[in-house]
Formats: sequence, C-alpha cells, structure tokens
Amino acid sequence: MSKKPRKLTNSPFRYPGGKFYARKLILACLPEHNKYCEPFAGGASIFFAKENVEHNILNDKDESLMNCYQQIRDNVEQIIKGLEGIPATKELHFYYKNQFNPSNNLERAIRWYYLNRTSYSGIR
Ligand SMILES: C[S@@+](CC[C@H](N)C(=O)[O-])C[C@H]1O[C@@H](n2cnc3c(N)ncnc32)[C@H](O)[C@@H]1O
Repeated sequence: MSKKPRKLTNSPFRYPGGKFYARKLILACLPEHNKYCEPFAGGASIFFAKENVEHNILNDKDESLMNCYQQIRDNVEQIIKGLEGIPATKELHFYYKNQFNPSNNLERAIRWYYLNRTSYSGIR
C-alpha cells in the first residue's frame, strides 16, 4: 500500500530567494537521514517542509533571524502572545522598524517576526 502524502509545513517567514516553490522537487532528492543541517537557512523552507528528524541544525549569519528561531523553539507561547492581535499596517511597520527598542531577546524576536511578515507583500 502506498504512503499517504504528508501535508507540507510552511516556513513562518517570507524570504526573498526562498525555496518555497521548489520544495517538492528538493524533497524528492533528500535521502533518508537522522541528522539535518541547513546552512544559509533564511526561511528554512526545506527544514519546515520535510519530515522531522532527531538532530537539526539551522545556520544563518543573520543574528536577528537566529534569535527568532531560538525564541520560537524555546518560547513559542510568548511569541504568539506578543504578536496576537497586532494588525499589519504601514504605521506599525514603521514603528517596529525605526522606533521600537526591544529590551530582551523575546521582544527582539517579536520585532523581527513582525517586520518579516509585513515586508515582501505582507501589507496590501
Ligand atoms: C536566500 S536566503 C535562504 C533562503 C532559504 N533557503 C529558504 O528556503 O527560505 C539566504 C540566507 O543566507 C544567509 N547568509 C548569507 N551569507 C551568509 C554566510 N556567509 N553565512 C551564513 N549565512 C549567510 C542570509 O542571511 C540569508 O538569510
């Protein structure tokens, strides 16, 4: 009996140059593995789309992005709470980009997440 295709998980981020639209092609080339490393991770479309494994490494030189991933891993409830109900507007995008001064890594992650999701076609 053939295996039912799994619903692919989307990256939470929008990324220029992301591999979102190439996911199925790339996943078809992945061998079985129990360790996974994605350098130049960005939105890590392949990491999110593929089956989860025991050991996972995401690497990116963007410290704000890596902080955001760490906060999502370790503090997801707080991230959700911090972002819940905040509308996507140009005014708030300007505020988070230019005026908001995060005082800890959770606030840095919330700022980064908001800016990522309200850039690159996030605001209509
Ligand atoms: C096009 S994005 C990757 C998109 C990703 N593959 C996806 O599917 O969403 C390229 C990423 O490489 C990172 N990067 C560029 N130069 C790097 C370097 N020298 N070391 C680590 N990361 C780097 C950037 O910060 C950026 O997040």
